[in-house]
Amino acid sequence: MRVGFIGTGSMGSILIEAFIRSGALNPEHIVATNRTLAKAELLAEKYPGMQVARSSKEVTVGADLLFLCVKPSEYKAVIDEIQDHALPGQIVISITSPVLIRHLEELLPSKIAKIIPSITNFVLSGATLCIYGDRLTPEDKELLDNLFSHVSAPIRVSEQYTRISSDLSSCGPAFLAYFVQKFVEAAVDTTGISEEEATQLASEMTLGTGKLLTTGGFSPAQLQKRVAVPGGITAEGLRLMEKELCGVFYDLIRTTHSKYEEDLEKVEARFFGTKVD
Ligand SMILES: NC(=O)c1ccc[n+]([C@@H]2O[C@H](COP(=O)([O-])OP(=O)(O)OC[C@H]3O[C@@H](n4cnc5c(N)ncnc54)[C@H](OP(=O)(O)O)[C@@H]3O)[C@@H](O)[C@H]2O)c1
Repeated sequence: MRVGFIGTGSMGSILIEAFIRSGALNPEHIVATNRTLAKAELLAEKYPGMQVARSSKEVTVGADLLFLCVKPSEYKAVIDEIQDHALPGQIVISITSPVLIRHLEELLPSKIAKIIPSITNFVLSGATLCIYGDRLTPEDKELLDNLFSHVSAPIRVSEQYTRISSDLSSCGPAFLAYFVQKFVEAAVDTTGISEEEATQLASEMTLGTGKLLTTGGFSPAQLQKRVAVPGGITAEGLRLMEKELCGVFYDLIRTTHSKYEEDLEKVEARFFGTKVD
């Protein structure tokens, strides 16, 4: 199998490294290109056998799977370059939410999947969101589920819920890391505990909490109830958080969705020349 990657920035390189480290792909399976070629060359130095191509066209020709790992604003240039070379038998995988399956199906003859990774895939953990276009066969879907199961829990979602699912799964690590950072900063400022020690404690806590919520059989509500004994210290803390933070999550979702709508409009304008206000 030949797996092509167009774009080896943050996400493209995380996916390549995770696939290789998990044993899902050998470097020999992979051919990649990047606008700044040095980034792809560095990866190839690290993983001998991986090939670097000088253009998106070169990656596309002969690829069974083709990953598009560029930002929404960069899609148009890539599609223009590969449009005449992509084939119906190939599977093209987009990893970005505001480029819709139907956008790519209109522009390419290939089978289209949208699979949204997460930085957590770097440590072979977290979810990947799998949205499959109608051109994929059941065998194609099984192939992709199987590939991504080496680096994540592949979860099939409806395209209608891509944005909210990405908020939870792909933006979530940044949001949670913000929570940890602020907790640590307050701990250091208030008590003088070292930043290193506080960060270690908060990070181990985050890992353990994740395990309890995934394999430990706890729901978020059950976990709070188990820790916060009535009249105890945690219960006091939770009462404060409920008062101060509850509305933040509604605002957060409104904010990410409004940025998504903006990106979607820009993508449609770039691809199809529709008017952007
Ligand atoms: N970051 C995340 O946690 C995350 C999670 C899920 C999904 N995503 C999605 O992944 C996509 C990529 O994000 P990212 O964080 O990886 O961005 P990034 O670090 O900016 O990577 C994009 C890469 O694409 C390259 N590129 C741009 N135009 C190109 C072209 N025409 N031909 C070849 N390569 C080209 C860029 O090259 P240069 O080196 O020249 O800039 C850059 O290395 C985004 O759409 C994002 O929504 C990201």
